[in-house]
Amino acid sequence: MRVVVTGAAGGIGEAITARFVSDGARAFLVDLDPSVAALLGSRADGVAGWAVADVSCVEDVNAAMQEVLVSLGGIDVVVNCAGIGGPASTAATMDPGDFRRVVEVNLVGTFLWSRAGARQMLRQATGGAIVNVASLFGQQGVVGGAAYGASKAGVSLLTQSMARELGPHGIRVNAVAPGHIATEMHWDELRARAARTGTSFEVERQKVLREVPLGRHGTGTDVAAVVAWLASDDAAYVSGQTIGVNGGVLGS
Ligand SMILES: NC(=O)c1ccc[n+]([C@@H]2O[C@H](COP(=O)([O-])OP(=O)(O)OC[C@H]3O[C@@H](n4cnc5c(N)ncnc54)[C@H](O)[C@@H]3O)[C@@H](O)[C@H]2O)c1
Repeated sequence: MRVVVTGAAGGIGEAITARFVSDGARAFLVDLDPSVAALLGSRADGVAGWAVADVSCVEDVNAAMQEVLVSLGGIDVVVNCAGIGGPASTAATMDPGDFRRVVEVNLVGTFLWSRAGARQMLRQATGGAIVNVASLFGQQGVVGGAAYGASKAGVSLLTQSMARELGPHGIRVNAVAPGHIATEMHWDELRARAARTGTSFEVERQKVLREVPLGRHGTGTDVAAVVAWLASDDAAYVSGQTIGVNGGVLGS
């Protein structure tokens, strides 16, 4: 299996890459953070290449795609995991440039890599799978989450539309919607909540634990397991879905 993972240097993206590589896939990694090259040195057998690239920039996507084809020779799976939380401002106080940047990275970036992957899969005529990383906060609105939630809700609807368009070509398109996963992005969100409400990081962390029926934060490995399943033939009749990976918190 030949897999492209965006956001591969991050907490969830690294876990997704590790899962695919340990399952025997060959992976091409994309991230804005140059540490993507070094971080995965220990998985050199399965990592065929990487690009330091911005998922929201068409030129970067085109250049990285050339490298993907040299390294992998084709694409069977694209995992769109790159994302940013953006500032914790409320919509009324948010700078329009900040709102646009969140949508550009989370939604337009997912569109650009899904489009690039789909075009290659259509040329190959071998089918394939696209797995997008949406969010619990793209299923329910929260204070300080206007840009992020709108971008991730967009990812779920992009997923549904592309699943309908690409299904006749044997290409399945699905999304996971993680919630409360123990990564720097989530800890940043808890720090922002603490600052906004005058509590502390630990108080906010305990609130989350009370809210999650399974009583713990999720891990990148929890998300990677569902992504790997969605990309596999075990999910051969699953397309257009957004699957919550959130410890039992209800989305919509
Ligand atoms: N942590 C959570 O609780 C949680 C919940 C729901 C959804 N998510 C989503 O999961 C994904 C991974 O998040 P994470 O928690 O691992 O966060 P993270 O910040 O650790 O990882 C995000 C990665 O994306 C990369 N990135 C950011 N902007 C980019 C760009 N323009 N081009 C290329 N790469 C870029 C970053 O460099 C980073 O490596 C994100 O899409 C996030 O929205 C996370």
